[in-house]
Amino acid sequence: MPNRRSAGTPPSGAADGAGPFDFVVVANRLPVDQVESSDGGTEWRASPGGLVSALAPIMRQSDGVWIGWSGSPGPAPEPFDSEGMHLIGVELAPEEVRDYYEGFSNATLWPLYHDVIAAPEFHRSWWEAYVAVNRRFADTAAANAAKNATVWVHDYQLQLVPGMLRQTRADLRIGFFNHIPFPGYEIFAQLPWRRQVVEGLLGADLIGFQRRADATNFLRASRRAAGLSTRGSEVNAADGRRVRAAAFPISIDSAGFAEVAAQPHVQARSKEIREALGNPKQVLLGVDRLDYTKGILHRLKAYGEILDDGELAPPDTVLVLVASPSRERVEQYRMLRDEVEVTVGRINGDHGSVGQPPIHYLHQSYPKEEMAALYLAADVMLVTSLRDGMNLVAKEYVASRQDETGALVLSEFTGAADELTSAFQINPHDIEGLKQTILRASTANQAELRRRMRAMRRRVFEHDVAHWARTFLRTLEDSADHRHRRREPGPGHTRPSPESEQH
Ligand code: G6P
Repeated sequence: MPNRRSAGTPPSGAADGAGPFDFVVVANRLPVDQVESSDGGTEWRASPGGLVSALAPIMRQSDGVWIGWSGSPGPAPEPFDSEGMHLIGVELAPEEVRDYYEGFSNATLWPLYHDVIAAPEFHRSWWEAYVAVNRRFADTAAANAAKNATVWVHDYQLQLVPGMLRQTRADLRIGFFNHIPFPGYEIFAQLPWRRQVVEGLLGADLIGFQRRADATNFLRASRRAAGLSTRGSEVNAADGRRVRAAAFPISIDSAGFAEVAAQPHVQARSKEIREALGNPKQVLLGVDRLDYTKGILHRLKAYGEILDDGELAPPDTVLVLVASPSRERVEQYRMLRDEVEVTVGRINGDHGSVGQPPIHYLHQSYPKEEMAALYLAADVMLVTSLRDGMNLVAKEYVASRQDETGALVLSEFTGAADELTSAFQINPHDIEGLKQTILRASTANQAELRRRMRAMRRRVFEHDVAHWARTFLRTLEDSADHRHRRREPGPGHTRPSPESEQH
């Protein structure tokens, strides 16, 4: 039964260290952003982002608590309720934002886990901050989780939390989901703290990944970095538990998204967008966080060459490039922004005329309605990631195309490519192939597009985010129950030895 006490209530079971909540989500970010309100003050609003759209509906249903960082350095806000969710903030000091968030999370792990597209940096001071901040998240979760509660830890920023929680709260059912890829061992092995990371993750009962290949990579890392044996999809952890690693491809609230796209004002807005673009025959669209993993420069190279070749040209064809601001204080992101903006400027300079640029570049974030209107306005959606855990934009495009029109060009290096096999799949490194596929997608006949879109829509609607969460949580329940049964005291029962200290 969900517990109805609100966030911030002093833990009821202080004696045994337990808190009030039966379901606890732990993620680097709270699912809300602080924005300016109409009266000049500030208010919390649900943030866009993949993880938020994925978990918000489940949080509301289960009356659980979400533990995360507000996104600003300095003291955490007092626990509060927003969008039907209980939220507890974790404080990050300015140096921790620099060393744990911008540093170890986004300049060490992010590039390492995305096949070293950018060079990862390894700094011992960043690792120390990562350990300290993971400890804070683990302590906050431990203080708020009821006895035998389910704790679901998310993503690469918090890989040590399952191990830390297991040490202090062996009663908990702990799940971990990695939203980004898990790299092959040859790459992962570069990490000086690879053993500690593997052992941290193994504090969970179940470790979820986007693709089967990610789970396989993790199983291999457990053998090689931690010297543990594996059997099928299970790791034999050092304390005698069996930990399962498996694929649970994340999705979107497909019906909810389709509903937004079907609203008359959103449909009207999509017509307005096409008009503002000069009513071209063909609208191409790219939507990403401005991140080097997304292959934005590869996309621009292919499009620029198509224009050079004269195979497509404005005003008949335009590309709308939405690149939302991201991690702007990290050097690699600043450099990428400069490169993208120079490239866009060059292509527009070479191929544009007054009022008719071939690229409409927007370095901004938009609410869901505007995104849906953009998807509806686009004939061809371009997803060209060099490596991507899932790519929910691809799924949102599919969910919004109720009339089964539109073409999805999709990189085979996304998690989504495993599921959306009817997309026009591309290798973004193969610029010639990318150009040919963009042209093929933009000239395909309606029957072919419909056949492809129908198959993709079936997948996206049958495997939505509710299905993802249900499947993960059910599997977690089975794995943890199995552990509890095995641990029941009986003749000759001994407690497993605690895991070694993370450092
Ligand atoms: C990816 C990660 C998330 C992260 C998001 C935005 O989707 O998997 O964990 O929250 O990017 O990045 P940010 O650094 O702004 O949180």
